[in-house]
Amino acid sequence: MRVRISPLRGPLRPLGALRVPGDKSISHRALLFASLADGESRIAGLAPGGDVRSTAFCLAQLGVPLLRGDGTPWRSSVAGREFVAPVRPAGAAPLPERDADMDQDDAIVIGHGLAGLKEPISALDCGNSGTTMRLFAGVLAGAGVEATLVGDASLSRRPMERVAGPLRKLSAAIETGPDGRPPIRVRRRAAGLQAGTIVSEISSAQIKSAVLLAGLFTDGETSFTEPLRSRDHTERLLRQMGAELSVRGTTVSVRGPARLKPFALDVPGDLSSAAFLLALALVAPEGSSIELEHVGVNPTRAGFLDALASFGARVFLELEGGAAGEPVAKLKASAQRLEGARLDGDLVLRGIDEVPILAVLGALATGTTVIRGASELRVKESDRLAQMASGLRAMGATVEDFPDGLSVSGGKLRGGAVIDSAHDHRIALAFSIAALAADGPTEITSAEWADVSFPGFFQLLQRLGADVEILN
Ligand code: S3P
Repeated sequence: MRVRISPLRGPLRPLGALRVPGDKSISHRALLFASLADGESRIAGLAPGGDVRSTAFCLAQLGVPLLRGDGTPWRSSVAGREFVAPVRPAGAAPLPERDADMDQDDAIVIGHGLAGLKEPISALDCGNSGTTMRLFAGVLAGAGVEATLVGDASLSRRPMERVAGPLRKLSAAIETGPDGRPPIRVRRRAAGLQAGTIVSEISSAQIKSAVLLAGLFTDGETSFTEPLRSRDHTERLLRQMGAELSVRGTTVSVRGPARLKPFALDVPGDLSSAAFLLALALVAPEGSSIELEHVGVNPTRAGFLDALASFGARVFLELEGGAAGEPVAKLKASAQRLEGARLDGDLVLRGIDEVPILAVLGALATGTTVIRGASELRVKESDRLAQMASGLRAMGATVEDFPDGLSVSGGKLRGGAVIDSAHDHRIALAFSIAALAADGPTEITSAEWADVSFPGFFQLLQRLGADVEILN
């Protein structure tokens, strides 16, 4: 799909308080962890994009009964293939009354404890989702279920030894493909995994989660230490489910074998998706503002908000309470001038997925913005540092690139560029915002990748008054 996006000519249309799609990181975890609980979990507001459908698809292949909020079997399609999750087992307890506010993106997952996963008859297709592949590697290794995890072309280029290596240290029988990339093959094991101590050189919630999930199946304490504290959604949800889990500095330990309680969760909105709309409000013509409600603001994820403060931006935040151990807030941003910022260290880790849109803000701010400590971006859905550098240069910004970051300046962006998403949702979304703030129309090709995390994004821009033309 090709879209042509023209610059905004006037303030954004006021739409009142908006909700962004459910948090992707939390949605993956909610589905997967619920499958390991003893009983039925109810999850409302799941992320609607392709990545979370991949997780649901893999669970269905592992025999996990997965229902819509109204009790009908989960049906969905992934990459054009239809799937129906296994039906509710005969004799299961009746479903609780359907909550009035549950909608299409709600799920009921029927867990059968740690031993409930069945061997799949074909490879598990993780699509474009690195979180799916890495978290399932931990669970399958722990459960000793024989399975192969595969992904699309972009996922098949991403490093997987970073999870396979630590799992092997816990005595998992696990292999990766050529150069440590997918597929990941997990072999059946009669004996359980051994609890152990893993020290990682990379700060990564996906590696941490894979190890902690495997640790649930061991007999003893498994710990994971990383240089800086990565997002802690796994820790928060496992605790809610009754796991014995402790945190000291950057070390998290879990004790197995665990018995996990089912849960009810209303997934907060995804700050990583909210970031594009907040950034839009900041760079839109004077008089624009955007208000978002029920957005997750977990501090281990909220580096983007701190980064906005470094740009001198004022964003209104009002805490609304919590959802299963996750803080949730109302956020409001209005058009304002931004000053170049220096972003690095812990802040960048806590906003790692927001670096593309932060680079766009850097290009539009006065002065120079320097982003360092972001080398992980080179191994995301695309090499995001390279994509941002070349795209922003094509739009007239001055960009220097380092192995672990970018320096961006210019203060304005010009129209006329054709930017390819490189099959990466965050690149498609970031350049859409850049296009709205440029001085002429910009074309974005393979723009449909935005659907991985933000289905309906271009339609939302149109509702906000933007001139977005879908060309094919
Ligand atoms: C995620 C962790 C981060 C992040 C990704 C989602 C998660 O990846 O970039 O989008 O849900 O655990 P790493 O663990 O590779 O840093």
